[in-house]
Order: sequence, then structure tokens, then C-alpha cells
Amino acid sequence: MISRRKVLKSLGLTALSLPSLTGNSIASDLSASPSFPAVDDPTFWKGVRNQYMLSKDQVFFNTGTVGAMPRVVAERMNHHVNYMASNVADWAYKDDNAERFIAGYQHLLFIRNKVAKLLNCDAKYIALTDNTTNAMSYIAQGMELKAGDEIITSNQEHGGGISSWKVREKRDGAVVKMLEIPKPIQSKEEVIDIIVKAFTPKTRVLMLSHIISGSGAILPAREICAEAKKRGIFTVLDGAQTTGHIKLDLTDIDCDAYVGCFHKWIGAPAGTGYMYVKPEYIKDLWTTVASYRWDNHEDEGFRFTQRGTGNFSVLEGLDAALDFYFQIGPDKAFERIKFLGDRLREGLRMINKVKIYSPVDNAMCAGITVYNIDGFTGTRLQDTFWEKAKMRPRASGDVFGVRHCTHIFNSVEEIDKALSIIKQLAS
Ligand SMILES: Cc1ncc(COP(=O)(O)O)c(C=O)c1O
Repeated sequence: MISRRKVLKSLGLTALSLPSLTGNSIASDLSASPSFPAVDDPTFWKGVRNQYMLSKDQVFFNTGTVGAMPRVVAERMNHHVNYMASNVADWAYKDDNAERFIAGYQHLLFIRNKVAKLLNCDAKYIALTDNTTNAMSYIAQGMELKAGDEIITSNQEHGGGISSWKVREKRDGAVVKMLEIPKPIQSKEEVIDIIVKAFTPKTRVLMLSHIISGSGAILPAREICAEAKKRGIFTVLDGAQTTGHIKLDLTDIDCDAYVGCFHKWIGAPAGTGYMYVKPEYIKDLWTTVASYRWDNHEDEGFRFTQRGTGNFSVLEGLDAALDFYFQIGPDKAFERIKFLGDRLREGLRMINKVKIYSPVDNAMCAGITVYNIDGFTGTRLQDTFWEKAKMRPRASGDVFGVRHCTHIFNSVEEIDKALSIIKQLAS
């Protein structure tokens, strides 16, 4: 078994130089040592923080909008931008899948294989997209739906998740039914009950956020999908807020489709997303953005990955971000994110005049906490955090205050400082 010193060294924690964060050796080292690093090990997590370029005098609590890139990600991407600018003439174009020059024409299996590992599914059924919105649109626009077919969803979906279904409603007469999900949610049974009661013989699709962006609620995806499956309903989950946040296992969840992005919790450059569709459904999904091999059913993920010329430098950054995430390890990243989120929620519960809109059952929460202080609007609270301590959570509307995200680069000190500001404002 690997020693603690060796792991720290591999992550650059004992060296001042830029660490080499490529390859998967460290990931297996960390997972071979379940108790290390501890979620509150200050040396280890400070070292992780040092892998980020985030300004030292600013505190970033807004991963739910766009994540902070580790230094290695920015460097890989920038290196490729410079390489393209200097060496484009050197590139003898040969429609060759090994080429790493332009996205949108290549199979990109070197990345899709890593995404398959992240999601625990087959890379053949993963397509790379530009973001979650594109991925959801490919699914909604690609399905055969007729007038009267029901799409069940919630009142708390992001515009990028729900709008493509509304297009189908307007264009084809499909019916989008938006269920009222409470805020805060009390328990997972409460949500399952609301959803299952809404199913009718006309329900064709169930589309839900796996983590609701406006409350941080982790929905009981496996249980909900199992209920839908019993009734032959196609399930699609929006994983924009889950990917890199909680550990994902699509084989276990057993949904029919899943979409998400890497530019939030994975820390990849903006403009990186994906979709997964089960083999038994993907063949029947029409291509929305079509290129040469639009009718190729041998590599279904590639059929949807072809989207014309794209930015390969961004994909180099994505590749580095996935490696970085695997080096920390999905379990360790989740434990740290949740540990900090739990500390924040515990502190908030002890402050009078604070209302928390994240679920009451803490097992349904991890790195997103939504709360407000009596008398504040979200914008006022957001601005006050910045004025007082250069802290950046994001306003979540007049009623719901702010959405406060915790990530592996955040520290216990940052959470405690935020809590002391809230205490002061609430007194
Ligand atoms: C739940 C959810 N779905 C979809 C989106 C849109 O994601 P993207 O910008 O990757 O299209 C977001 C963005 O915040 C989100 O939170």
C-alpha cells in the first residue's frame, strides 16, 4: 500500500513546482487508502486548494453556475491554443480519429472512455455536447412524441432542462405537466409520492433534475426511475449539478437517459457537456445536429458527438479536468464537498432569522445550500458577502436568498467566516 507521504508528494503538496496531474495512478492510490485523506485533514486540502489559480483574497462559493478550473486544466487548454496558433500548417488533415485538432468530427473515445468511467456506463452510448442544454435538446427534439403524450417534470427545473420539452408542447401538442415540489423538501418519500401519483397512462416521459439547482436537493433517482420503469415511462435526468459533485452510477440508477456538463463541479472549461442514452433507446433517437455519419448506428455516441467544427483546446482542458478529478477520487471529492456543506447547514440552523430552503433531510443535501436571512433579498445578501469579505455565493431570488456552494478548494475557515458574517447580519 502506498504511503501517506507518497500520495501527498504525488499531488504536489510537498513540492513547490507544478505537479504532474496526468494518468490515473494517484486515483488508485487514494482509493486503496479509504481513510486517507480525512475530510478535515488541513494539510491535504490546503494542498488541493493550491492546485487552483483562484485569487487568494477571494472566496468562491458559486460552483453551481460555473466551476473554478484547476491550474493544470487552464495550462493544458492554453498550451493547445498556442500550439494551434503556431502549428496549424503542420497538420496534414486526413479525417483521422487520432487527430487532436478539431472537435465535432472525431470519435473522441479517449475522453468518452473517461466519462464512461465517471458515470459507470458504456462509452458507446455517451455523446459529448457543448453543455447540458444542448444535450437535453438532442433528447427532447430527437424523440417521437405525438399530441397528448405527457411529459412529467417539476416546477423547479432549470430553463436549459425544461425548455426543449416546452418546444415539443407548442410544436406537437405534447403536454408538459409541472409538478409542485416543495421548498424545502421534507424527505425523499414526499417527492416520490408526488411524482408517482402524477403518472397516468398517457405519461411518456419523466424529466427531472437529479440535483435541483435552486435548492440543492438530491432526488432519489433510483427509486423514482424504478417506479417509472414499471409503467413503461422513459426517464431522463438532468445532471448539470451532479457531475463531479456526487458519485454517479447510471447502471445502478437505471435511468433511460442522463445529461450533464463538466464546466461546473468537474472544473472543466466552459462549453463541455454530455448525454447518455441507453442502447435500447438511442437507435430510435433522431439526430438534431446532423453531419456525415448522422445515420451511423455502430457508434451511437459518435452519431451525436458530430456537431461540426469545435474547440479542441477546450477538450484538452476537459481531459485534464477529468484526470484531476479521478486523482482526488469521486468518493473523496464528495466526502469533502458534503463535509463543508454540512458544516455550513449546521451553523445556519443555529442562527435565528435564517431560513434554509435546502431539504430538511440532510441525507438529501451535499454541496449546495440555499438560504436567506429575514429582511434580505438575494441580491442584497450576495452583494453584502462581497463587500464584507470578497465571498461569492450567488443570489437565488428575492425570497430564497443565496445559493451557497462548497467545493474541494473551499476550507473550514471560509465556511466559519461566512457563518460569522451571517450571524452578524441576522443580529
Ligand atoms: C439543473 C440545471 N440544468 C441545466 C443547466 C444548464 O446547464 P448548461 O449551461 O450546461 O447548459 C443548469 C445550469 O445551471 C442547471 O443547474
